[in-house]
Amino acid sequence: MAVYYCKEKQTFTLQTKKSTYQMKVDDHGVLLHTYFGSVMDGSDLSYVIAKRDRGFSGNPADSIYQREYSLDCLPQEYPVFGNGDFRIDGFCMQGESGACSCDLRYRDYTIYEGKYHLEGLPALFADKEDKTVSTLEVVLKDQFSELYVRLLYGVFEETGAITRSVIVENHTGKPVQLHRVLSACVDFDRSDLEMIHFYGKHTLERQFECQPLMHGISGIRSTRGTSSHQHNPFVILKEKHTTEDVGGCYGFSLLYSGGFEAKVEVDQSDTARFLMGIEEENFCYTLEDKETFTAPEVCMIYTDKGMTDLSHCYHDTYMKHLIRSWWKDKKRPVLVNNWEATYFDFNAEKLLAIAKEAANLGLDMMVLDDGWFGKRDSDNSGLGDWFVNEEKLGCSLKELVDKINAMGLKFGIWFEPEMISEDSDLYRRHPEWAFKIPGREPVRSRNQLVLDFSRKDVREYVEERLYAIMDSANIEYIKWDMNRSINDVYSALLPPSRQGEVLHRYVLGLYEVTEHLLQRYPKLLLEGCSGGGGRFDAGMLYYAPQIWCSDNTDAIERTRIQYGTSFCYPMSSVSAHVSVCPNHQNGRVTPLKTRAICAMQGTFGYELDISKMTDEEKDEVRRQIQTYNEHYALFQFGDYYRLSSPFENQDYVAWEYAAKDKSYAVISIIFTDVHANAYPTRVRFKGLCESAVYEVRGEQYTGSALMHGGYRIGMPEGNYDSFMLYAKRV
Ligand code: GLA
Repeated sequence: MAVYYCKEKQTFTLQTKKSTYQMKVDDHGVLLHTYFGSVMDGSDLSYVIAKRDRGFSGNPADSIYQREYSLDCLPQEYPVFGNGDFRIDGFCMQGESGACSCDLRYRDYTIYEGKYHLEGLPALFADKEDKTVSTLEVVLKDQFSELYVRLLYGVFEETGAITRSVIVENHTGKPVQLHRVLSACVDFDRSDLEMIHFYGKHTLERQFECQPLMHGISGIRSTRGTSSHQHNPFVILKEKHTTEDVGGCYGFSLLYSGGFEAKVEVDQSDTARFLMGIEEENFCYTLEDKETFTAPEVCMIYTDKGMTDLSHCYHDTYMKHLIRSWWKDKKRPVLVNNWEATYFDFNAEKLLAIAKEAANLGLDMMVLDDGWFGKRDSDNSGLGDWFVNEEKLGCSLKELVDKINAMGLKFGIWFEPEMISEDSDLYRRHPEWAFKIPGREPVRSRNQLVLDFSRKDVREYVEERLYAIMDSANIEYIKWDMNRSINDVYSALLPPSRQGEVLHRYVLGLYEVTEHLLQRYPKLLLEGCSGGGGRFDAGMLYYAPQIWCSDNTDAIERTRIQYGTSFCYPMSSVSAHVSVCPNHQNGRVTPLKTRAICAMQGTFGYELDISKMTDEEKDEVRRQIQTYNEHYALFQFGDYYRLSSPFENQDYVAWEYAAKDKSYAVISIIFTDVHANAYPTRVRFKGLCESAVYEVRGEQYTGSALMHGGYRIGMPEGNYDSFMLYAKRV
């Protein structure tokens, strides 16, 4: 078991192969945070905590005349609002008196084998036989009321992950208002750290940014009801000199698909407090007596071996303990999606022409995107009317799917179940199902409104429609889209005092519908999407093993988006397609080869009208698919290495996949600038066996040579040229 309780010292120590984490109950019953870092022996580290009267830092009631004892200065596991700690905190409640105050002290603990489960929320899991995963639950109680807070810790010894969640239990006999229930707090006894986060916008998600911590509060958040394009719920805190290969870094990934926040405060004593959880601006939850509230899970990983190792730990953890899909260990179908090929302008004939060519070239699946239902020839109408538009198609869905299946292709379809168009039969019947504040015109976005997924009747309607379509034809894949940020949050079924719960209930509703869908169709391949990567988060991965990474399909901008995505999320979850040139989003022209190499960084497919390609292009596509099919296992399950940063290196982007058994590896490199009188570029392999011999382009080299000396690849024949370089153990 990786959780150790020392009765004498009152310490709890969590041990993984990567890190040690420790907390301690002090003489006042406060749960202190004493360590998170490289593996150490588990000695009680509370002796290093500096206790001094710092002035204007108050003393709790049980330490009167002990001026050096202040919660304002102590590192804590779960700091709360209103007990004399003036830093940012994880928990704020308002009790019967109307005052916001609480003071949590230690009550009890439990340790058990296996991983805790969170009702209705995504969470990491462990197989029953897996003895390397364990749970610690620590119970805290408010000094002044019967309010209990359970802190949950899941410890994954092998992959280094430590998860956290919080369950609040109300036994006060009265309702309490929860204004803030964040999921994790880590107090660092230092502030010389840098924060890496991944910001962006629609069609340019997860852009890398790194900045030193500053005094005061810095952080990121999404108030959009989704995890968002603008910020991703994944943050790294790293030491200044940490690189891809060496140094200490902490990852924090939130398993939640709604609004979130992640923030750090550097305080008067130069310590830093990190917090992460549900965004509080849109949150106020009334917890009735005897009710519980569960905060979503955070997955924390520390390694002292650099950021590549951090990413490997996340990828391995999420592949083994988060993604459940039937598809997770299987080769994903190479698909063609008709969106950029036809947009809304299609009928069965056009679709079948694409499918015919797709089958010809060796693809596995045809996906029918937006526009097949209701009245939907533009994005102004039809959402909610999930009835096949047979008039537009010219046949029934079953007829279309049967024909596509007969060509040897699987079939997938697009849905946007959380949305409603005002110009739809559903809206005309149920205007109260859309988020709208009574008496006000709502904020529209893409001319659509958001369905109130906190309502059971709404969820039941959506499930009934999804199942009806699913049962009508042989559908093996769904692209689940969500195309706006949420505004006018108001649920007609909840009283005014509970409107602050709606967004969280919406997310729970989304998880419930998705869960039901997967239970009913366990072999369904679900692809997440929100205008591309607007909901690319670990919460979604629990349901969808792959997510459409961005609506931007330009190979060059994609290298940056996929680079940022790779820090936390397994590359098999990164859905990436080859599209036409000039690119529809930015007009850039890149070689077909480069577009394919870029798309093979993730789960591979096409998004163009294959039937319009030249014979030469078709031959190239055929070869690309052969390459992907030959090496998919490496791309899906190999260790991923970022060999250069597109945010630093203006000349090229390079990355590598290495098989876990080190038997072979492939480096991909895309040139992003070219120079006169240039010198051929050298790349160094990573993750090979030093002493083994590998063959690269017909010549033999030791792993050692390829990793230390590297390999000189040819000169690019023009800008945006690209290469793949294989090293196979002989
Ligand atoms: C979103 C998706 C696209 C496409 C369109 C359809 O923007 O990200 O891939 O499905 O919706 O409307």
